[in-house]
Amino acid sequence: MKILPEPNRSASQTSTVVQLRNWRRGISADKVIGLVPTMGALHEGHRSLIRRAREQCDLVALTIFVNPTQFAPDEDFSTYPRTHEQDLEIARAENVDLVYLANTEELYPAGFATLIDLPALSQRLCGISRPHFFAGVSLIVLKLFHLFEPDKTYFGEKDYQQLVIIEQMTRDLDLDVEIVRCPIVREPDGLALSSRNVNLSAAAREDAQVLSRSLFLARQRWQAGEVIATHLREEALRSYGTEVDLDYLEVLDRDSLEPLVYIQPERGAVICVAANVGGVRLIDNIVLEPH
Ligand code: PAJ
Repeated sequence: MKILPEPNRSASQTSTVVQLRNWRRGISADKVIGLVPTMGALHEGHRSLIRRAREQCDLVALTIFVNPTQFAPDEDFSTYPRTHEQDLEIARAENVDLVYLANTEELYPAGFATLIDLPALSQRLCGISRPHFFAGVSLIVLKLFHLFEPDKTYFGEKDYQQLVIIEQMTRDLDLDVEIVRCPIVREPDGLALSSRNVNLSAAAREDAQVLSRSLFLARQRWQAGEVIATHLREEALRSYGTEVDLDYLEVLDRDSLEPLVYIQPERGAVICVAANVGGVRLIDNIVLEPH
């Protein structure tokens, strides 16, 4: 497994970006390259993306970078978990070919000025309480797509709004990469895996179950034939007490993320939720498959 920057070449004259380009140029055109972008603190959710990439690609590249442009000054950039040694072990165990430990000075040198934004999709749901967030995500993902020129890239449905935004950006900018959607990996009690879960206290960890529980209940109603979105929303909201600080819970069109009143059975929908649980921001969602 190759790691960039190379760990024992601290005084290297060559920038990591140049090393990365050299690696990329050395790969013959008939090889399928898969890219898995992450912020590290890898868990089974990330591993499921890496495994899917391993099955479908000749070469798998993993990036680990807590991207500062997607955090506001008052957010958890400094407390976001960083577990590099453990992440590298996981990458080795999953047979990753290249790990790119990006660094801020190289990706955002002094004078960096470009913004990428998709206002119609990025200023709703998580974008209301985190207005800078998706511009930061789109920017880093676009940069990584340019650096790696992957054939396929793997994103989790856990971050549903992020996924829809990246798909839209890929279409709009004619990026020649296939976005592979990967299903949410959950704990046995339903909680969606997230790097932030380690920051939950024991009590908050218990309270956090309400997110997935509320979504499963609403999906049951949908499966039993309910098509009025407000009824499903009310069903889901009934699970919440005062222990979590709910940001939003919405029944949405799966592509436009517009709120729905009525769900066309042949189209289905997605329910997205975000909440602050004991000081930790958690998100989750469930797709209501068409019947
Ligand atoms: P991060 O939160 O590390 O997630 C990296 C990828 O893992 C994302 O595609 C995310 O959807 C996926 N993932 C996380 N938890 C998952 C779970 N429980 N099941 C399935 N997939 C899961 O998302 C980001 O990083 C960043 O915004 C990034 C795209 C890397 C840009 O900085």
